[in-house]
Amino acid sequence: MAVNRSVIRGVGAYVPKRVMTNADMAKIVDTTDDWIVERTGIHSRHIAEEGEKTSDLGIAACRQALVRSGIDPLDIDLVICATATPDRTFPATATRIQAGLGINRGAAFDVQAVCSGFVYALTVADSLLRTGQFRRALVVGAETFSRILDWSDRGTCVLFGDGAGAVVLEAQPTHGTREDRGILFSRIRSDGRFEDLLYVDGGPGSTKTTGHLRMNGREVFRHAVQKISGVIEETLVATGYAADEIDLFVPHQANKRILDGIARKLNVGPEKIVVTLGKHGNTSAASIPLALNQAFEERRLKEGSLVLMEAMGGGFTWGAVLARW
Ligand code: ACO
Repeated sequence: MAVNRSVIRGVGAYVPKRVMTNADMAKIVDTTDDWIVERTGIHSRHIAEEGEKTSDLGIAACRQALVRSGIDPLDIDLVICATATPDRTFPATATRIQAGLGINRGAAFDVQAVCSGFVYALTVADSLLRTGQFRRALVVGAETFSRILDWSDRGTCVLFGDGAGAVVLEAQPTHGTREDRGILFSRIRSDGRFEDLLYVDGGPGSTKTTGHLRMNGREVFRHAVQKISGVIEETLVATGYAADEIDLFVPHQANKRILDGIARKLNVGPEKIVVTLGKHGNTSAASIPLALNQAFEERRLKEGSLVLMEAMGGGFTWGAVLARW
């Protein structure tokens, strides 16, 4: 049966120019390059300049994705931005990105699911495109996590970085089989009981401040491997694919040890997993599209590639999207 699917037409990314290495970190907090690399796999991260906002990063990523897709910005009728670090409490960063790109039709809004934000935003965009209400969407993950870090807490400030990545989706008629191009399956989940393990200790409705990120890293780690493996298995069962039929795993980049743990559980070789956290750190909602962009530039993503994206973040939220490039 013919169905509309959301086909990925282009990908783009942008990271701030300023690079902060682990050696730079060691000048600020009591840490070492060895500790950070061994526990996380992170070597450096990009940090936004004073005045460089989440929307600025998002606009740059969208511009590259649009050029690569060959689609005119004026043909975009949906902009969804996944971010936990909006420029302002309101309006949505997505409407600022929309305006920055000169788009004044359709709709734009933010999705807040922290590190799972891109998976959530793709799922929402896909649902809206498949109804026929919208035709072409920009889905962007953009973050300036450096603004919500406690730069005196070595347990968290070494882990995160700033950046943005975006994809252009277009609704296209397909045969309705799992061999189609486009988003084939997605699953999003949340469980608010775990808020205290990963949160920001401020907000306009509670403290009237922005607040700082707080995390019980060990507990988050334990849940991450379990929850991500679970949602990947659900995706494989629902679509009938085996793990070894996936061409590329594009995971949220939180910790190399989490990625290795999941790879072991699924029995997937390292050559199939895109890892960018060495140079980006954890960029929350931006990490999956940044990794997609790297895979595209390295020609590891080709038309027809079967790609599995997955993430877990504050909330907890988690989810996975299976797509054919
Ligand atoms: N440098 C040196 N030592 C450090 C540092 C540091 N940067 N940070 C912590 N330590 C010390 C601790 O103080 C502790 O010392 P102690 O034993 O004397 O008390 C020791 O290292 C061990 O600390 P742990 O927190 O137990 O270290 P662990 O091995 O668990 O690694 C880490 C910490 C890297 C944070 C890990 O737990 C992790 O990656 N967790 C998951 C994070 C994650 O997945 N986040 C994703 C979601 S993010 C989002 O949604 C926004």
